[in-house]
Amino acid sequence: MVDLNRAEYPRSSKYDAAWLLDCDMGPNPLWLLEGLNLQFEPGMKVLDLGSGKGATSVFLAKEYGVQVWAADLWIDPTDAAANFTAQGVEVTALKAEAHTLPFAREFFDAIVCIDAYEYFGTADNYLAYLTTFLKPGGQLAIATPGMTQEVRNLGHIPAHIKKVVGWEALAWHTADWWRFQWEITELVEDVSARMQESGWRDWLAWAEALTEHTGIPNGHLEMLHADQGEYLGFALVTARKPR
Ligand SMILES: C[S@@+](CC[C@H](N)C(=O)[O-])C[C@H]1O[C@@H](n2cnc3c(N)ncnc32)[C@H](O)[C@@H]1O
Repeated sequence: MVDLNRAEYPRSSKYDAAWLLDCDMGPNPLWLLEGLNLQFEPGMKVLDLGSGKGATSVFLAKEYGVQVWAADLWIDPTDAAANFTAQGVEVTALKAEAHTLPFAREFFDAIVCIDAYEYFGTADNYLAYLTTFLKPGGQLAIATPGMTQEVRNLGHIPAHIKKVVGWEALAWHTADWWRFQWEITELVEDVSARMQESGWRDWLAWAEALTEHTGIPNGHLEMLHADQGEYLGFALVTARKPR
């Protein structure tokens, strides 16, 4: 029986480990979301962008009592909706592409994106697009695979990372990169960007738990063992749209 209980993530620890691992599309989404330390008022409208199978959407609905729209490209919304019903939450599941979102301007109080922004959010013009869907004063929060150094500065993708993710590591940036990228636009304010303190360790713990759960060695294990926290972790980035 895999144990995902962690003292530093008391809210995440309430969730069934087998269910969480069955929802897997990337490492420890609830730990990442809880690690963002977000504050919501019940009833707020929250977009979970790139919500995958929906573990984070369930967490947002249950822990904060917010209204959640779970938008994802690869997962059939019928499957996500079945997960929400089974978990006893009312979450709107929809298929959506991050550049053509089907929402009214200034609809959301918050947009949360866990381990998905790296697929669509690194272009210079994306923040301007996404923030149109936030109310003035609304929160934007992402957790995205990050590196302690920019690949551009290293001049190469470290071999153990390149072997597993290839050029996609170009979208894994430092916390400083994210801070500058968002602050310079003045489209958002109160920007906070940091590498999750336990990012590499948590990622490895998830890969080990998943390996035990599925009986199949997780594809990230070798990369994480080789890394030992030298480069890899998650960047946690939050900001607010000006009022
Ligand atoms: C690594 S998975 C993470 C899923 C979920 N947030 C989690 O942590 O379990 C990345 C998700 O990003 C979504 N995604 C990738 N590109 C996207 C795009 N262009 N528009 C919307 N979603 C996208 C995929 O559908 C996928 O579910």
